[in-house]
Amino acid sequence: MAETDPHPTSTNTGVVLPPIVGNADVEWDDFDSAAYFEHNYGELRPDDARIIEIIAGYFQSTFPPHRVGRAIDVGSGTNLYPALTMLPYSSRVTLFERAFTNRQWLTRELDKPQSSWKQFWDAISAGRDTYAKINDPLDMLHRLARVVRGNVFNLAADEYDLGTMFFVAESITTRTDEFQRATRQFVNSLKRNAPFAAAFMRDSSGYIVGNQRFPACSITEEDVRKALAPVARNVDIVMVESNDLREGYGGMMVATGRKK
Ligand SMILES: C[S@@+](CC[C@H](N)C(=O)[O-])C[C@H]1O[C@@H](n2cnc3c(N)ncnc32)[C@H](O)[C@@H]1O
Repeated sequence: MAETDPHPTSTNTGVVLPPIVGNADVEWDDFDSAAYFEHNYGELRPDDARIIEIIAGYFQSTFPPHRVGRAIDVGSGTNLYPALTMLPYSSRVTLFERAFTNRQWLTRELDKPQSSWKQFWDAISAGRDTYAKINDPLDMLHRLARVVRGNVFNLAADEYDLGTMFFVAESITTRTDEFQRATRQFVNSLKRNAPFAAAFMRDSSGYIVGNQRFPACSITEEDVRKALAPVARNVDIVMVESNDLREGYGGMMVATGRKK
């Protein structure tokens, strides 16, 4: 990662400020996909199981049980479960990703998915008819998904019928203005009234993948609410307990709602 200032700045009051790292300062194409997958999605964790309960429940309660149209997952990384939660309601799923390594990983994964996704699908489909009637979800995702190179800050408006964005807006920059812009741009890429689910790390100080350090913007529930207010309605934010993924964060947050 290329940091604008690799050394913390000391102010004249002696307070040490962390360096400011914008999204464009990071070498996203070096993202170590295998290490990220192994650490986060090699098996289903209780925090992801709780997030699945919230968003699969939300999508199922929001949609009539038939396909509605085009879905997008922004900054997919090596995570297929947001896309899997949109499967019954999608005629096409765009996996929108900036990093070359993650796009390559996604393409291979769709072709030959690893076994842990079965644990995620079991959690998604348990007790939910709309999901449970899909026989081979990973084959269906393979048919419907397109891996697309892109930058959240350039997403076109009013294109998608539903969307997800997990651990992206707050985990690609230290800048509050970029966190807000990424969140709003994601919701704006949806059509009017389209439902969405977005997950965020709370109070994150950054993260390490392989041997690379990545920036984060430290945010709370109030920051998520503020970021969504101009673009979304019916917003619900739920705190998800999580403390053993790594050091330097204060749980997870899931927001559901509709584009205004
Ligand atoms: C912390 S990872 C989250 C990955 C995945 N969504 C998950 O739930 O684990 C952040 C992701 O955002 C991607 N990313 C970084 N900058 C981006 C940008 N400007 N536009 C779209 N994606 C971006 C990264 O390549 C990475 O895959």
